[in-house]
Amino acid sequence: MLRHKFIIFFAAATISGFFSNVVNSAGVAVKPGEEAWTTNGVFGSFDRKQLKRGWQVYNEVCAGCHSIRLIYYRNLAEMGFSPNEIKKIAGSVEVPAGPNEDGETHKDDEPIMRPGKAFDRVVSPYANKIAARVANGGALPPDLSLMTKARINGANYVHALLTGFKEAPSGFKLSDGMHYNPYYPGGQIAMAAPLSAEAVEYSDGTKATVEQMSKDVTAFLIWTAEPELEERKRLGIKVIFFLIIFTAMLFAVKRQIWSRLK
Ligand code: HEC
Repeated sequence: MLRHKFIIFFAAATISGFFSNVVNSAGVAVKPGEEAWTTNGVFGSFDRKQLKRGWQVYNEVCAGCHSIRLIYYRNLAEMGFSPNEIKKIAGSVEVPAGPNEDGETHKDDEPIMRPGKAFDRVVSPYANKIAARVANGGALPPDLSLMTKARINGANYVHALLTGFKEAPSGFKLSDGMHYNPYYPGGQIAMAAPLSAEAVEYSDGTKATVEQMSKDVTAFLIWTAEPELEERKRLGIKVIFFLIIFTAMLFAVKRQIWSRLK
């Protein structure tokens, strides 16, 4: 009797193991490597120069398809841009002007535009999600503001994804308009490799390799997802420091009080 139960148990385990492998080969992606982000650890902080380079990569490459709706031009000051630089960056784009003194928002069916200002959101590449899908063969380029928080192991994942495009292995069924990337669940993504060497020219002399640009834009996306990361870490250190001193004081008081009982 017991032997039968064992056989049934092993058969069930083998069959379910087989099916979970089938699911894996369709859905699970390669695990990204661990990168040494400057924001890692209790004392982690942003590298302002890297953030500026990352903004450049976002602005010159990714912004063609992806928005960062949660960021306003004025927020770029936190990365070390001066008010004048921000004025220039915002002024280089056009935003809908809103109603003029006659209440009109459109002229000849075209929206009336004005140059961007520091208080404007960073402009989105498409008017809405439908327009975004139409321009990308049906796929939606997601907003990147919170991307490094929205995915498990976000920063490492984004960097692995950006640098992970390669030739599909033989036997892999790549669908039309898709690109092989082992870090994306299912192994194929509608985004083509967005970065190629020297895609941008850094003004600080850093060499614009794919690896470098990917790290810089990912660091920038860590910032867009959590601009207050440094304050959070500083507060954490203060709290721990306070708790250590407080514990020591309590201990001293306890000894004082109990010493009278001797
Ligand atoms: C030509 C348009 C285009 C450009 C340029 C582009 N992307 Fe994408 N991206 C897409 C599309 C489309 C998708 C959605 C893919 C899908 O659904 O299969 C996407 C998806 C993504 C994702 C989401 C992956 C996920 O887990 O859902 C990330 C992250 C991403 N892009 C980052 C970037 C970064 C960073 C840049 C700039 C270096 C960039 N993209 C440039 C079109 C683009």
